[in-house]
Amino acid sequence: MIKVAKISKAEKSFNLECNDIAADKSISHRCAMFALLSNKPSTITNFLEAEDTLASLNIAKLLGAKIEKENNVYTITPPQKLQEPFDILDCGNAGTGMRLYCGLLSGIDGSFVLTGDKYLRSRPMARVTNPLREIGAKIDGRENGNKAPLHIRGGDLKPFKYHSQIDSAQVKSALILAALNSDNKSYYKENLLSRDHTERMLKGMGANIENVILDKEEWIEITPLSKPLEPLNISVPADPSSGFFFAVAAAITPKSKVLIKNVTLNPTRVEAYKILQQMGAKIEFILKDDKYEPIGDILVEYSGKLKAIEVSKNIAWLIDELPALAIAMAVADGKSIVKNAKELRVKESDRISSVINPLKECGIECKEYEDGYEIIGGELKPTTVDSKGDHRIAMSFAIAGLLCGMEIKDIECIDTSFPNFFDILKEITKVKL
Ligand code: S3P
Repeated sequence: MIKVAKISKAEKSFNLECNDIAADKSISHRCAMFALLSNKPSTITNFLEAEDTLASLNIAKLLGAKIEKENNVYTITPPQKLQEPFDILDCGNAGTGMRLYCGLLSGIDGSFVLTGDKYLRSRPMARVTNPLREIGAKIDGRENGNKAPLHIRGGDLKPFKYHSQIDSAQVKSALILAALNSDNKSYYKENLLSRDHTERMLKGMGANIENVILDKEEWIEITPLSKPLEPLNISVPADPSSGFFFAVAAAITPKSKVLIKNVTLNPTRVEAYKILQQMGAKIEFILKDDKYEPIGDILVEYSGKLKAIEVSKNIAWLIDELPALAIAMAVADGKSIVKNAKELRVKESDRISSVINPLKECGIECKEYEDGYEIIGGELKPTTVDSKGDHRIAMSFAIAGLLCGMEIKDIECIDTSFPNFFDILKEITKVKL
């Protein structure tokens, strides 16, 4: 059944202290997988209990890990040797789950089938399956290995030197995980540093992953594992991409503010907040801790009507926040432009059309480019938005609803990353489901 949310307009300003933004999705996926690279139990506090990351945890279980939970702490005890699973491995809606497991399983002896929901089965996988095949991985799937279900026959992998033409943490992580199972040092290069949780966490577990200069260029050097890694002992911070919906809410609602607590302040993850700051919102980053990642609070405060902005650089650092940022652009003064963002077309939905079409229905003048869009700020009018099964589209237009009211169709997808989104939204306005 397709559930619909009716968002009523916020009647007044709000001052929200948010201690319960969903835990970081990227880091939670990696906790489930990287725990398998140790031979001792890992302890994970505040693991994201959302569909995407629970799917990764379930795959770890099918590979032989023992998963226990007490209070807010998961203990993941890896098997001595990863098992060939008795069943297919279902990644749900998660591109991160599927692409990283591809890299991890390519070097493990056994037969593995990775699949996912209808959206994930439509997304391109050649970006990981091709480079993995070049180093000896045996992977096949629909469209010659580009679409899931994918079948992996794990085995020996060759070391590599690979310069990726996409700035993608999923591609980088898949290749790093494969390199750990190879028999000599491998080298990976990307044009813009994509989110670096994989490098930070694996180094924290004792892996030898260094930045080195080769022919005057910076590469990541990965040394294969000679022994199991140390276990993880981590408290997952809040997800800045999830927090960003409420950052936009505060930035567009007069006299409002939100304090997003205990979030990762990793520079590859907070670029969208810096853009919102350049658009005129008052934003403060408060660093509190640094283990695996810098962690702290982000204070976002309304500071008058936002100004339009052009975004064309460091796109990988704000790719997930662009739908919510589009809502800020839709009410800003002037014409905003997003360029160099064609990756948006292959996310959980084609996020260029799934943002621009409903914005047009809200009465906003905007135009699609192949690699982005332009949005001329105006006054939002209520409409019915089809999320296209994409969690970030559903949440972005729910936030737009604070200004004008909105009906969002197909909201179940929000459970893939932020199951308590509506509980927090309810604190701002009345939400009827
Ligand atoms: C992610 C990387 C990004 C991001 C995704 C999570 C990760 O994807 O959009 O939501 O955890 O590595 P790409 O690597 O495709 O850019």
